[in-house]
Amino acid sequence: MPSRRSTKVAEAKRLLILNGPNLNLLGPREPNQYGRHTLKEIEDQLRSYAASRGAELRFVQSNHEGVLIDAIQNAIGWADAIVVNPAALTHTSVGLRDAILAANIPTVEVHLSNIYRREEFRHQSLIADVAIGQITGFGAFSYLLGVQAALHLLEKGRS
Ligand code: DQA
Repeated sequence: MPSRRSTKVAEAKRLLILNGPNLNLLGPREPNQYGRHTLKEIEDQLRSYAASRGAELRFVQSNHEGVLIDAIQNAIGWADAIVVNPAALTHTSVGLRDAILAANIPTVEVHLSNIYRREEFRHQSLIADVAIGQITGFGAFSYLLGVQAALHLLEKGRS
């Protein structure tokens, strides 16, 4: 009888892509800071990249902390990893941090701008030390790097 291991078919990896407050305004919002891509364009790009890697993505954007926390809780048992741009909540939300800890789903933190080159209040992230890692400052490309990093991590874990 073949072993369980040899019969296991590699399943598509599932990623939750989570975006916090005001990121629905990307495009017209402070383009010097965040670039001109809309969130829809970023999501479309991620979707096609994920398809090329056989991964499945689910997208949630909200301006409300509780909705983001619910999305993290709902991801338990579904998502293999989370890629999150917590936006302003990066610097303030113990609730989001606790949700990531409670869900125990590997999480990559991403930012369009380099938060360390901006106002001092943006230098602190309440998410960074509960995330696997942080990608900051590459514009829309930060998201692609975040998805790549998450998939890399999951591939590594598989072997
Ligand atoms: C941001 C940086 C945050 O400080 C800011 O509040 C945002 C966007 C970024 O992607 O660069 O809304 O997370």
